Amino acid sequence: MEKMICSILLLLSLTSCVSGSFVVNVTQTSYQAEENHNITLEWMFTTSTGSSPNSLFIFCELLADLKPLVLFHLHEGVEVPESQDKQFTGRVRWDKDVLREGRIRLHMSRLRINDSGVYRCEVLTGYGTSSRICRLNVTAAADEPNSPTPTMRTQPESRGWIGLYVGLTAALLVLCAGLSGLYFTFFHKSTGNRGNCGSEGRGGCPPIESS
Ligand SMILES: *[C@@H]1O[C@H](CO)[C@@H](O)[C@H](O)[C@H]1NC(C)=O
Ligand SMILES: *[C@@H]1O[C@H](CO)[C@@H](O)[C@H](O)[C@H]1NC(C)=O
Ligand SMILES: *[C@@H]1O[C@H](CO)[C@@H](O)[C@H](O)[C@H]1NC(C)=O
Ligand SMILES: *[C@@H]1O[C@H](CO)[C@@H](O)[C@H](O)[C@H]1NC(C)=O
Repeated sequence: MEKMICSILLLLSLTSCVSGSFVVNVTQTSYQAEENHNITLEWMFTTSTGSSPNSLFIFCELLADLKPLVLFHLHEGVEVPESQDKQFTGRVRWDKDVLREGRIRLHMSRLRINDSGVYRCEVLTGYGTSSRICRLNVTAAADEPNSPTPTMRTQPESRGWIGLYVGLTAALLVLCAGLSGLYFTFFHKSTGNRGNCGSEGRGGCPPIESS
């Protein structure tokens, strides 16, 4: 048992010795996003001034249940778009400028719920190899009313209210016109009922001259 632990420790120290001080790390270990939103996943790796960009290999994958899905593939410093899984087609951009600084920045747009999972980027260089994972959790955009969208909705909403007020006023006017028309015709036809009208107040009574 002790022998096994010793050999494991030896193996670990050996591998760390071989890979030297080359590290791949992440700026964030887990990301949270909503469906259809965008996100930028970022990894960092140790750079070396003397190394040529041609000796840079990067594999970034989503470790899916059945098989890893390739998100990004760089071969000898050149992107290989054919390697990318069709789940990510047209939804991933990478930042060429920051690669020289040892940053792998992958902008993912129009996120889907099934983009959720563990992402791993493996970096191979002439001076070392390493990989690191991060997590992405994409949730359904169910709580839309609480998200930033209401700002976009306020205008049509207030317009709707104005429309409603205009409509109500128009309806009231029509109703008034209709009612007074009804009163008018009613009193025009039966002037004998004027007595009832008088007890309800003069406002509702058409002028006597009109009949
Ligand atoms: C990640 O690694 C890079 C390159 O080695 C280093 O400059 C940076 O400080 C590291 N960041 C963290 C958060 O460990
Ligand atoms: C998401 O990314 C796409 C394409 O890169 C862009 O057109 C869109 O404006 C972005 N949306 C947000 C909310 O940042
Ligand atoms: C992921 O979801 C999209 C729709 O959101 C669907 O078109 C696609 O087939 C799904 N992919 C997998 C591997 O389930
Ligand atoms: C993803 O986020 C949702 C909402 O915050 C949370 O309930 C769920 O546990 C998260 N799932 C994972 C695998 O982290």
